[in-house]
Amino acid sequence: MDQIIVTGNGPLNGAIPIAGAKNACLTLMPATLLSEEPLTLTNAPRLSDIRTMTALLQSLGAEVTAMNDGKVLALSSHGLDNHTADYDIVRKMRASILVLGPMLARDGHAVVSLPGGCAIGARPVDLHLKALEAMGAELDLREGYVHAKAPGGLKGGVVDFPIVSVGATENALMAATLAKGTTVLNNAAREPEIVDLAQCLRRMGAQIEGEGTSEITIQGVDRLNGATHPVVTDRIELGTYMLAPAICGGEVTCLGGRMDLVAAFAEKLDEAGVDVTETPEGLTVKRRGDRVRAVDVTTEPFPGFPTDLQAQMMALLCTADGVSVLEEKIFENRFMHAPELLRMGAKIEVHGGTAKVTGVERLKGAPVMATDLRASVSLILAGLAAEGETVVSRVYHLDRGYERVEEKLMACGAKIERVRET
Ligand code: EPZ
Repeated sequence: MDQIIVTGNGPLNGAIPIAGAKNACLTLMPATLLSEEPLTLTNAPRLSDIRTMTALLQSLGAEVTAMNDGKVLALSSHGLDNHTADYDIVRKMRASILVLGPMLARDGHAVVSLPGGCAIGARPVDLHLKALEAMGAELDLREGYVHAKAPGGLKGGVVDFPIVSVGATENALMAATLAKGTTVLNNAAREPEIVDLAQCLRRMGAQIEGEGTSEITIQGVDRLNGATHPVVTDRIELGTYMLAPAICGGEVTCLGGRMDLVAAFAEKLDEAGVDVTETPEGLTVKRRGDRVRAVDVTTEPFPGFPTDLQAQMMALLCTADGVSVLEEKIFENRFMHAPELLRMGAKIEVHGGTAKVTGVERLKGAPVMATDLRASVSLILAGLAAEGETVVSRVYHLDRGYERVEEKLMACGAKIERVRET
């Protein structure tokens, strides 16, 4: 398994291009199942998760062709010949569950493996299933698979989500586009990835109102057409790279960054003593003094502070002046980066969903291990500012969500290299 070696090397200066959003692309790709016409996605990120979703769609009989070095994906599902999403693919990536709604809406039947948990939590899919049942789906859970049927097609219905779920909102939104009648999603997720999906579906001929708010209304149509759609900028990659100059010093412009994608996060950075300026090229970030101030963080659904930036923010706060409290309210086990940061000299006390971080002047490089996607990049950020060398192992986690991370950081002066497993 590859390792990444990063050595503290002072301030970073330069520009980092931000790619298309992994979490938008992973729901836009299954949307091809809703139409027999071709769907083209531009600004697609080059990530292993995208390759996993490609393999899953191809296993169903869809065609997926990556062009322009993977930045353009040409998808077509005119010949779906398999309606079963196998466990061996689904277990690798829980976003695979997002083929359920579209397949069921298009052909009235689907068999999808339950995803199983992952490092950050049990991550059930009960809300996905309840939403589809509210549209008339008949579901039968057998041997770890969901056997879904919609004889006569899905029907419009009212879906009341008891908690905000990004994936369940996406599954329901896609399914509702072809349901007979009107569907209302209450307490829907408001993430930019949902807005991006709705805009793509509308390009395909769907009738949707209210995306980006807690209530989305969909008027079902008989069929959807093909479309070409640009994947929205990745707000989590954006936030991650905004933290690089915050933790190291210097000034970095994140190309393509938009303030509306990271408003709550940028506000927290400002509170900690980091300037974020919106320019025509993107977001320019510069720390005001020699050290950030401690701030408290609570993760929430969008537009609140994103859970996917909690690990990265913790790395910054490990070097802050003062004591910070981070509350993780979305997932039940998302502090696995803490023990690794402790190995670098951080002072962190975890009690359930709360982590108390007492900032230290400087972290010390150490061998550390990535445990999940966002934890892995928080260790890279910590290593950029630490004294000496940090060796991050199990970087396959990193490659799921960050394209060419060492190239992007090296271009700003970071001392970072990937050691390929011999
Ligand atoms: C999406 O996961 C993202 N993944 C996650 O990003 C992100 O952390 C999460 O949304 C929250 O923003 C993709 O978009 C592919 P949820 P998702 O359904 O849809 C519970 C990353 O690092 N829940 O909004 O799975 C769930 O356990 C990944 O890129 C149920 O109880 O998240 C969690 O506690 C990690 N039942 C909460 O809701 C369900 O049926 C929010 O989960 C579904 C979810």
